[in-house]
Amino acid sequence: MIPAFASTGSVRPMLSQEQIDHYHRTGYLVLEDFKTAAQIARVRERANELVAQFDPGDRRSIFTTREQALASDAWFLESADQIRCFFEEDAFTTDGQLKQDKSLSINKIGHALHDRDQVFDDFSRGPELDAVARALGMAQPQIWQSMYIFKQPGIGGEVGWHQDATFLHTTPISVTTFWFALEDATEDNGCLWVAPGGHRGPLRELFVRDGDRVDKQQIDTTAWPAGDAICPLPVRAGSLVCFHGLLPHYSAPNRSAISRHAYTLHVTDGRAHYSSRNWLQRDASLPLRGFV
Ligand code: FE2
Repeated sequence: MIPAFASTGSVRPMLSQEQIDHYHRTGYLVLEDFKTAAQIARVRERANELVAQFDPGDRRSIFTTREQALASDAWFLESADQIRCFFEEDAFTTDGQLKQDKSLSINKIGHALHDRDQVFDDFSRGPELDAVARALGMAQPQIWQSMYIFKQPGIGGEVGWHQDATFLHTTPISVTTFWFALEDATEDNGCLWVAPGGHRGPLRELFVRDGDRVDKQQIDTTAWPAGDAICPLPVRAGSLVCFHGLLPHYSAPNRSAISRHAYTLHVTDGRAHYSSRNWLQRDASLPLRGFV
């Protein structure tokens, strides 16, 4: 784990060559203390407000990368340029009642927090993030989606092995994930697991949209990493983890009593061609923006 640069003020910090080399070698980079406790408190408070305002009605939409049939739900597709809450897969009893309070039943909020909410807009942008993106090789960073992930105590679901380029495909592949730990992420509460160097392998799956349907297609049969090839990535609250769109990653279910809030941004390089088959499309009514 590599300490973040010292400054989070108005000076544009640069990554060290060692940090850049680490990213290219392993496919990821951890920048500790990237966000302050006050910045984290502000977005956590705002997320709580959004959940409190959310009227679930008879909504039972859930999101897991395993259950892609459910992802064809219009609630999911229409969230591309909206702010919507998604329940945990295990949030409901068999007769459709919430097992625990709504505030402890939401899997995530997505996918345009960064463009639709001022608090998240502020958190998602700034010269420091722009400098990191550029140091990692992105000349024209464009933020496509944001997700506030709760990883709720007891019911926080597993996210199986995947590569983020499956969901936001460009030619050449450019999607880069910015993953902010809003709480300490540990092996107990479902921290990320990664396969260091695995970003040099092939893209295995493609999540493609056809009208109001989406489907995940296998395009390469290379096995997911296991054993000595994988490692957990526990990080303290405030850390930023950047990772390559081809890096295989996973997170275990949270069966602990402690939540594991995180916030992610998925960013592509505007020089790359963005696939018209990606589920997430934007039109001129909400133009894509970068970090500044
Ligand atoms: Fe991911």
